[in-house]
Amino acid sequence: MIQTKIYQAGLLKKEDIKTVAALIKSGGLCVLPTETVYGLAGNGLDPSAIEKIYEAKGRPSDNPLILHIAERAMLKNLVREIPAGVSKLMDEFWPGPLTLVFKKSDLVPKEATGGLDSVAIRMPSHPVMQKIIKEANVPLAAPSANLSGKPSSTRFSHVFKDLNGKIEAMIDGGESTLGIESTVLDISSLPWTILRPGFVTQAMIENVVGHPILKSNPLSPLETPKSPGMKYRHYQPQGMLHAILGQISSVVPYIHQTQSPSKGVICTQEWAHHFKTLHLRTIGSIHDLNSMTSELYAALRDMDDRDVEDIYLVAHESMGEALLDRIKKASSEWIELP
Ligand code: TXA
Ligand code: MG
Repeated sequence: MIQTKIYQAGLLKKEDIKTVAALIKSGGLCVLPTETVYGLAGNGLDPSAIEKIYEAKGRPSDNPLILHIAERAMLKNLVREIPAGVSKLMDEFWPGPLTLVFKKSDLVPKEATGGLDSVAIRMPSHPVMQKIIKEANVPLAAPSANLSGKPSSTRFSHVFKDLNGKIEAMIDGGESTLGIESTVLDISSLPWTILRPGFVTQAMIENVVGHPILKSNPLSPLETPKSPGMKYRHYQPQGMLHAILGQISSVVPYIHQTQSPSKGVICTQEWAHHFKTLHLRTIGSIHDLNSMTSELYAALRDMDDRDVEDIYLVAHESMGEALLDRIKKASSEWIELP
């Protein structure tokens, strides 16, 4: 156990920014808030800091990390080339929840990329993350700040539970605004391919670049995963997650007839009145995508805090591709009803 120093984002002084940046430059780790989910950050050019990140998370070392930058000027030393058309994407979506996979330069250590010849880069928009990167003046390697395989952290309490005592520092930035991880787009070879869906959709990208792009289907067993992250289980609560997509008139009786010693339901507020007798956790409204996205991981973790063994999640088309992708990956069972 090490003593983890905790800072409040709202009370950060200039000296605190300097202290955290110096900690990172000397090989230490700090949890930082981003607009998507919390990140566990270390110096992305320092193999020993990177090793500590894998160890703190219990993450397989062939699952590569995203390097976070604060200015476009930081990009050119990290990549071999910036393909034509990519500037338009960066103009439109940076800073923000779009990660781009480039061919890597020799400056980027293999430890950060899981041995791959490519590197994932993102420019986050969160002001605290930006200030720390600028002050440290190095790209920050930062995977989601959760134990490997668990739901990403979107509340400070999640980070604290998973990582307190394992790393030097954490900054409490409250609830993550978006609540799911960035879109990952591979532009290192043709055709450009979305490896992980996110807030920035295929249509939004195609609109900017003016040509069609591909989307990897991580659920197809025939494909070799392009992104090593695709082959691991992700976002899973301790309880069994049963996700059900269908008309509410079939989903309600289905859930009520299941047998379990401890049953919980996650659904949007529209359907809550059907499940009053069970452990219930609502995730926003079907009319407001962000309200659902920002609650999913917190809802899964709440069910674990209540020791729910069977979690039934009422899925809905309005949840959109990225959120349904996370739900599918988190679930032990995916059920489609008429
Ligand atoms: O929103 C986010 O992206 C958050 C915040 C903290 O920035 N970060 C995050 O990192 O979700 P992580 O490590 O949990 O997920 C990174 C994903 C993994 O699926 C990984 O396999 C993929 O990006 N990835 C990283 N480098 C890659 C590369 N060179 N080629 C293909 N996929 C890569
Ligand atoms: Mg992750």
